[in-house]
Amino acid sequence: MIAVRNGHRARARMVGLGAHVPERIVTNRDIAEHVDTSDEWIVERTGIRERRFVADGEAASDLGVIAARRILDDAGLLAEEVDTLIVPTASPDHIFPSTAALVAERIGAHRAAAFDLNAGCTGFVYALAQACALVEAGIGRNALIVGAEALSRLTDHSDRSTCILFGDAAAGAMIVAGEDDSTTGFLGFELGADGAGGPDLIVPAGGSRQPLEEAEPGDAYIQMNGREVFRFATRVMVESITRLLNALEMGIQEVDVLVAHQANSRIIDNAIGQLGIPAERVINNLDRYGNTSSASIPLVLAEARDAGRLRPGHLMLLTGFGAGLTWGSTLVRYEPR
Ligand code: UT7
Repeated sequence: MIAVRNGHRARARMVGLGAHVPERIVTNRDIAEHVDTSDEWIVERTGIRERRFVADGEAASDLGVIAARRILDDAGLLAEEVDTLIVPTASPDHIFPSTAALVAERIGAHRAAAFDLNAGCTGFVYALAQACALVEAGIGRNALIVGAEALSRLTDHSDRSTCILFGDAAAGAMIVAGEDDSTTGFLGFELGADGAGGPDLIVPAGGSRQPLEEAEPGDAYIQMNGREVFRFATRVMVESITRLLNALEMGIQEVDVLVAHQANSRIIDNAIGQLGIPAERVINNLDRYGNTSSASIPLVLAEARDAGRLRPGHLMLLTGFGAGLTWGSTLVRYEPR
């Protein structure tokens, strides 16, 4: 991609959506066969009934490639037209090369700048901010975001406090340059990070702090202080949305659709209650997919679009939280091509 700033200021628009989940369905009962848990406990405490796991040997980029092609089809664009390819992921194929570079190669996005973005489960919202900023600055016209996660590969399947939560999926959106005077697009972002909470949700080993050969058993897997993350998530989701709406001088009643990161239905229900948004405007699918980190918000959006629940012009409030600890919210209009 080459960009020469010529004074043209475009508005970024979200025009395409797409998703892909692996075939293998793992139910709560399947998990209860090897750890001390039950379908009732998991449904009551999380809202999750089943999730998808990749096959042996399958990685995040394998899911991302299929989702990327679907997003391109939906947006009516060719891979060669992609200027920037962002893969938000907490479970990349490798530390490097980036999963984005691998996806770009396999879909034929040969002109694209490609990079991964690590903001835990807030990755998709952070990536939207990146894509919006690049497109509106004139640095490329078409930015493809593909959240791609194979979290089951980083999960300790003997740890009942984490193995019930996570699932694998890829999903994303296409952000393109719209017309100068367009009133559509991204109305604003509220993003943040608090590294003090980093140890509450962490894969300790496999980086430069603790190389794999020095790892203690279990340190190459996700470790989570569930209660702390739960407390953080319930607080930050409401605060982030409230700060964004206040900054825009808007009310929650103006929001057509709320899609929150799919971590736990109790976190989302708590926020719905505090914000006062009608429950029918909130779309979830974590009962079928669990927590798919960077893929979770666009996975809901793609399904909602397929079910006819997203209409052109709908104002969507998207909000995420996760490892970092990070959080982020944005308000965006859906403007399919
Ligand atoms: O994407 C962002 C990342 N993650 C999250 O947002 C997750 C945030 N946290 C949560 O969703 C919840 O904290 C969990 C679902 C992980 C746990 O639910 P909880 O209601 O916070 O349970 P808890 O950790 O307070 O544990 C309550 C009890 C404990 O037993 P004791 O100590 O009271 O005897 C746990 O050992 O539940 C036990 N427990 C389980 N029991 C059956 C924990 N996991 C399980 C399980 N099945 N899978």
